[in-house]
Amino acid sequence: MSDTPPQPSSSPPPDPEERHAAANSSLGTNGAGRARVDTETSERASRAWWDADAADYHRTHGEFLGVDSDQGEFVWCPEGLHEGDHHLLGDVAGKDVLEVGCGSAPCARWLAGQGARVVGLDISMQMLSRGLDAMQSGSTTVPLVQAGAESLPFADASFDIACSAFGAVPFVADSARVMREVERVLRPGGIWAFAVNHPIRWIFLDDPGPRGLTATLPYFDRTPYVEVDDDNVPTYVEHHRTIGDRVREIVAAGLEVRDIIEPEWPDWLDREWGQWSPLRGQLFPGTAIFSCRKP
Ligand SMILES: C[S@@+](CC[C@H](N)C(=O)[O-])C[C@H]1O[C@@H](n2cnc3c(N)ncnc32)[C@H](O)[C@@H]1O
Repeated sequence: MSDTPPQPSSSPPPDPEERHAAANSSLGTNGAGRARVDTETSERASRAWWDADAADYHRTHGEFLGVDSDQGEFVWCPEGLHEGDHHLLGDVAGKDVLEVGCGSAPCARWLAGQGARVVGLDISMQMLSRGLDAMQSGSTTVPLVQAGAESLPFADASFDIACSAFGAVPFVADSARVMREVERVLRPGGIWAFAVNHPIRWIFLDDPGPRGLTATLPYFDRTPYVEVDDDNVPTYVEHHRTIGDRVREIVAAGLEVRDIIEPEWPDWLDREWGQWSPLRGQLFPGTAIFSCRKP
């Protein structure tokens, strides 16, 4: 469907609070705040969170992402930007591609349908299992690997392209290490493109409505957002980097920045996705896609 934007789901998505209630209840989440969290703690929290939230995530976003379509879809972000229209990865036919934080792998399957040899990697078994279910009814399959993005289990120079649509990068403690790992597994001339929350979103409450229009938090405070259970064990973690931090991490890893895409909210889209909404999208960006190259 490269020329057609993904259509909003026919039934309205559940209230975000209600949606997260199921995962929060099963994980015993009982508070939120800011705390330093290392790689191991972040990985444990992310694995548990995405395992617990996988079913609801797909009930809410699966149709928009094309998870159960015949060959998957490659939707980069809640603004609906589709790889088939924008070609951020170039011609993928015959290329070896790694998708980092693939979830149920609709992007990986779409790339396979375009002739790429794709591997999907994710830390959550439940997200990957949802992908296996989708592959049973669709016509494309891709190999899936359960691992963390900070230690990619692949040999040096294994891939021509690496990509990530909100997978892993916002959730890892050491995103500089992810950049180095991706550089390592790419071949010279390889492409790396990844979508993350636009760093400007950090200063606002995660609210799609008017409350989410007032700056309340310092852009420069990199202390991670952490939700915890009764024993203060993190159940959900999100890490912030400024635009400058991201560029510095990419360049320090030996990669070049080709572009930073800030998708505009399209007229056709009236769908909310968590804190993403037409109201906010018309005023400031929600997503940044970093397009990089290995020299
Ligand atoms: C917002 S979902 C995006 C999934 C998929 N790309 C999509 O568009 O639906 C984030 C994904 O990142 C994965 N993830 C979180 N931390 C990770 C880590 N450290 N290593 C690998 N994957 C991770 C989660 O399990 C989850 O599947």
